[in-house]
Amino acid sequence: MVHRSQGRATLGGKLSAVLVAAGSSVGLGNIWRFPYVVGENGGGAFLVIYVLCVLLFGLPIMLAEFSVGRASHRNAVGAYRKLDRRWKFLGYNGVLAAFLILGFYFVVSGWTAEYMVQSVTGGLAHCTAPEQYAAFFEGFIAHPWRPLVYTGLFILATHVIIAMGVQKGIERSSKLLMPLLLVVLLALAVHSLLMPGGGEGLRFLFRPDFSKVTPATVLVAMGQAFFSLSIGLGTMVTYASYFKPETDLRKTAFNVTLLDTLVAVLAGVVIFPAVFSVGIAPTSGPSLVFITLPGIFNGMPLSMVWSTVFFLLLVIAALTSTLSLHEVLTAYMQEEWGLSRRRAAWTTTAATAALGALASLSLGVLGGWKICGLNIFDSLDYLTANILLPAGGFVTCIFVGWFMDRRKFEAQITNNGAFRAWFFVALRWLLRYFCPVVLLLMFLDNLKVFH
Ligand code: PHE
Repeated sequence: MVHRSQGRATLGGKLSAVLVAAGSSVGLGNIWRFPYVVGENGGGAFLVIYVLCVLLFGLPIMLAEFSVGRASHRNAVGAYRKLDRRWKFLGYNGVLAAFLILGFYFVVSGWTAEYMVQSVTGGLAHCTAPEQYAAFFEGFIAHPWRPLVYTGLFILATHVIIAMGVQKGIERSSKLLMPLLLVVLLALAVHSLLMPGGGEGLRFLFRPDFSKVTPATVLVAMGQAFFSLSIGLGTMVTYASYFKPETDLRKTAFNVTLLDTLVAVLAGVVIFPAVFSVGIAPTSGPSLVFITLPGIFNGMPLSMVWSTVFFLLLVIAALTSTLSLHEVLTAYMQEEWGLSRRRAAWTTTAATAALGALASLSLGVLGGWKICGLNIFDSLDYLTANILLPAGGFVTCIFVGWFMDRRKFEAQITNNGAFRAWFFVALRWLLRYFCPVVLLLMFLDNLKVFH
């Protein structure tokens, strides 16, 4: 459905707001990044902290971003500028973060596309032992041009959908196959749980051991929550600028958060039993999922079908996320620089393709290029998730909690008084006091100010 109000697109139907926002949230962050950071940070205790971050910070900040977007009907920079000029730097922080995230996200998306193709052609089925999965993966990502081809194809697919226009492209692709992803994950989780020694993986994921928690763990959990929910960088501002006035922001945010967390935890239930059963190190980092999944599929009847369907769904989940990141940049250039939508889309595509190529090559031939000891790919991942997004979230709390016109904010959350106000009062309290104070303490603690 296409609606136009004041020359600007809006999303049709009640479902659409939830679908596009969930499309943005659910992606590689849940299925690739979540298991690997859980694995690197000790398991159960990290999960508890993560869920707290989602509920106490993720949900309120998502609502704050929704309100800013729908109150202003603008891109991330324009939205803050329209509400209060002094805060437009917050929009720029988001535009920068979206650009840097796309730089490595496109690369990982390319890997999923390669794994989908290798599932169809049977290339993956040749491996039988964990070392072989690892060698296969390492060989692929360090290859001088193969990953570039897949990354390029992925960028092109994103570009074509974005250039088709907001509603047509994004809405339609978001409606696709999301429930199917959940069903397939459930089936894989059952299979994984039945693997010999799988119980140990479950204990790792669900039995908290708080002795392993450090200030850095909290920062990583917070960063993962922001990354997974697509908040702290104006994605939700941009998307909410297309929402209709009747959309219930509270329900939308609640459903998106619930779905996103469900998919992440399910991915953990799929991955960790297999990790322990096959004897892979949970601390394997970004390769964890790619070396664990083939082992799961190979043990299943009709392994090729499962593997193909799974990677196809993962490609689609990644695509609905890259669309939302691309849209942040495209909407920004279109509205702030006055470019046509096509031009804006092409500029975004060209710039992110260049950064993506660098990030991809940094896992092979450009491995020697380091920033603070990390290669380009890892530094983009670390800088955005652990610094730019939580910092963006912090400033969002301050702006919406203290500086945005209270009536404007309340009108968004209660749909002009259609819903009761107690929820708004609680939300505003979290945004004014709790969230910014804790986020600030967390940053200071990580800078070792208290030691
Ligand atoms: N949330 C997406 C995921 O989990 C990634 C993303 C981050 C998308 C930030 C948009 C903005 O895969």
